[in-house]
Amino acid sequence: MKVVLIGFMGSGKSTVSALLADRLAVPLIEMDREIIAEAGGIPIPEIFDRHGEPYFRDLESRVAQRYAGASQAVISAGGGTPERAENMQALKSGKVLTVYLEVSFETVLQRLERDGDRPLLRDRERARALHERRDSLYRSHADLIIDGTRSPEQICEIIEQTLAEQR
Ligand code: S3P
Repeated sequence: MKVVLIGFMGSGKSTVSALLADRLAVPLIEMDREIIAEAGGIPIPEIFDRHGEPYFRDLESRVAQRYAGASQAVISAGGGTPERAENMQALKSGKVLTVYLEVSFETVLQRLERDGDRPLLRDRERARALHERRDSLYRSHADLIIDGTRSPEQICEIIEQTLAEQR
């Protein structure tokens, strides 16, 4: 079984997926980390600044296609991964549970107030509009929606319970 975590920047995907992969004893795939490696180790803001967002999105799609065949894994998607339908098609191939960690934009700002790693948060008003638009996108892909302000342990328990019910 594969679990794909989706949600906005700051929704807790990385923290939850690391804990979940550990608890389920399956490999963890962090899309952002894979993208950085794909770009030769350049940090994400630099990829955006040097090459532009479309280039970043192409790297992201390449990484998504690479893991289409993964059967036992927890995949932490980037916040924008669901922007391309083919990314989700690849990540959702096979037996998969897609979990949307839902957080308000206020929570995102609180959590990432001093973050310098997210180019798409530089312009707060555009980021707010993006958050609003993406909510329905995340919903459309989710098998399960969980309040992202719950503790990582609680979130893992809900996911594990759902996986057990599906078995
Ligand atoms: C992005 C989210 C980031 C990262 C990049 C673009 C987005 O990932 O992929 O900055 O489009 O929302 P996180 O959601 O892990 O912060």
